Amino acid sequence: MPLNVQARTAAHELIDFIDASPSPWHAVASAEDLLRANGFSSLEEGERWRLASGGRHYVVRGGASIIAFVLGSGQLAEDGFRIVGAHTDSPGLRLKPRAAMAGDGLARLAVEVYGGPILATFTDRDLSLAGRIVVRSEAGPKTRLLRFERPLVRLPNLAIHMNREVNEQGLKLNKQTELPLILGLLGNEEEADGRLRTLLADAVQGEAANLLNWELAVYDVQKGCLWGADEEFIADSQLDNLASCHAALTALMAADEPSATAVAALFDHEEVGSGSAAGAGGSFVTDVLARICSQEELDGEDRYRAMARSFFISADMAHAYHPNFPAAYEPGHKVTVNGGPVIKSNTNQRYTTSAETAARFITLCEKAGVPCQQYAHRTDLGCGSTIGPLVSAKLGIASVDVGSPLWAMHSVRESAGTRDHAYMIAALRTAFES
Ligand code: CO
Repeated sequence: MPLNVQARTAAHELIDFIDASPSPWHAVASAEDLLRANGFSSLEEGERWRLASGGRHYVVRGGASIIAFVLGSGQLAEDGFRIVGAHTDSPGLRLKPRAAMAGDGLARLAVEVYGGPILATFTDRDLSLAGRIVVRSEAGPKTRLLRFERPLVRLPNLAIHMNREVNEQGLKLNKQTELPLILGLLGNEEEADGRLRTLLADAVQGEAANLLNWELAVYDVQKGCLWGADEEFIADSQLDNLASCHAALTALMAADEPSATAVAALFDHEEVGSGSAAGAGGSFVTDVLARICSQEELDGEDRYRAMARSFFISADMAHAYHPNFPAAYEPGHKVTVNGGPVIKSNTNQRYTTSAETAARFITLCEKAGVPCQQYAHRTDLGCGSTIGPLVSAKLGIASVDVGSPLWAMHSVRESAGTRDHAYMIAALRTAFES
């Protein structure tokens, strides 16, 4: 079945969004660009807010978390919030603060493992660096986004002649000794450090002496693409979870004068447990909702009413069924790519879904005219989790965990369904308007 224009357009917009977002800091900057182009204005946490009905705003915390909202046309105490949450970060490699290493005529960069990537997928890819850098300026330290467009570093595989069992044993990499990335041909550590600093300074048109510090992620420069007989699949890095971020933002921007206050909350640090000031385990979302309540002049009683009438959708990718590995899946829960949004359930509350919240999401999908599926993990495998339980426990509101089907979760190049992205946008938009 050929793709319809809507699905193709949404998929290409997603690929462009990811291409503009090689790090979580860039993802927030891309989100800001989209939001500003759609009539949203920025709020500063350190300033007094003045909000009016129908207002479209966003606020950033820590550089890589963002909450955008549209104030509802109804009464907040009666209609509550419709919140969609997702995360901006992806697992991978991050540069250590003093990364330059030298020896054997080569300069290498020391990396830390961020979250739980499939490390083997980082070998033999065209890798580069992106993130943020703090430079000295007359007005004080200034944070700048930085990105190298070209391949800059690499993790070459060991030849099969020295690793004869690689196809039987899989590629195992020691995280300390076998992950440093090759940067160039350079003699000693001082030279390697100088070269790295010059590269970073040049990338922000600054002086190496003015670099104060940086946070840099390793990313794959290859742009995303559609693939398959009818281009029914998307391949890209960071689909987990920039696909959900993009779906939440697109749905929020399209929401037509919602009567409830619609909120898209995108958090950093999910892949490392969310326990940070800007993460889903921090106070960001409660602070923003409290400030909206106080702007709407809700008294204590009405705040509780507003929360009780709210609904939270935690959107993160779901495991698509892979026919080459049937034993990895729960038999009754084979989620198909392009089969629509997936409701994720776990009785141990790794996901927040209950019978009632699942039913609510099923109804939303019916209303949006999109199919939907249900997923449960094999009982003898540890189930992943996401921001859902943290945010739901903090806010005390009814929640459901959902996501689009994904192959190769946490690979540097993941795959998803072209149609699924448009389905998710439609379902989330219906949720915001409900
Ligand atoms: Co995720």
